[in-house]
Amino acid sequence: MPETPLSSEETPRIREMTIDDFPEVFHIGEEVFTAEYSQSLYRTWDEFEITTLFNSDTELCLVAEAGERILGFALGTTVKKHNSPWKYGYLVWLGVRSDIQKGRVGSRLFNEIRRRMQEQGVRMIIIDTSADNKPAIRFFQKQGFNDIQEHVYMSLNLTRKSKKKGVKKP
Ligand SMILES: CC(C)(COP(=O)(O)OP(=O)(O)OC[C@H]1O[C@@H](n2cnc3c(N)ncnc32)[C@H](O)[C@@H]1OP(=O)(O)O)[C@@H](O)C(=O)NCCC(=O)NCCS
Repeated sequence: MPETPLSSEETPRIREMTIDDFPEVFHIGEEVFTAEYSQSLYRTWDEFEITTLFNSDTELCLVAEAGERILGFALGTTVKKHNSPWKYGYLVWLGVRSDIQKGRVGSRLFNEIRRRMQEQGVRMIIIDTSADNKPAIRFFQKQGFNDIQEHVYMSLNLTRKSKKKGVKKP
């Protein structure tokens, strides 16, 4: 499998994110995690995503860089479930600039975050994305993910009048 279609001077370097990277990471996220990316409010990209994960899991906040340019990022965390001896890695956000997607940057970011998670004792990595995000599903399958589980989101609009019928008094 060819490792990089980018020219040798553009070969991305994967390193830990620093505070100076925040604006660029934020803008790449704005570019790739659009409203079409996720209709659900549960997954919305905002500046708190970066700061919260950076503060809790600096070692799992990575960027891919070529020259002075940030090409993409991987932001993750680890989770310990109650009643389970296993430690889980949660890859929360993985994003690559639209103009260089399919150029192996995502794979490089994933390989490094996976290595770091394993080093931290993670036994299973989990991700989530919209069911219609076929490119990402294909990408994660290529990385070895399987056992797709569908999840249902429901909403209740509180600004609409309730249609619930009142119980008639006898
Ligand atoms: C998903 C994403 C991170 C992949 O990064 P990437 O650098 O484009 O992916 P790679 O070049 O490393 O791709 C590796 C493999 O994934 C699959 N893949 C990647 N992009 C794909 C696409 N658009 N369509 C189909 N398969 C794709 C391919 O199998 C590819 O291997 P191949 O080139 O040998 O066929 C990137 O497309 C992205 O930022 N998408 C928008 C944000 C997103 O959906 N993030 C994931 C959820 S948080």
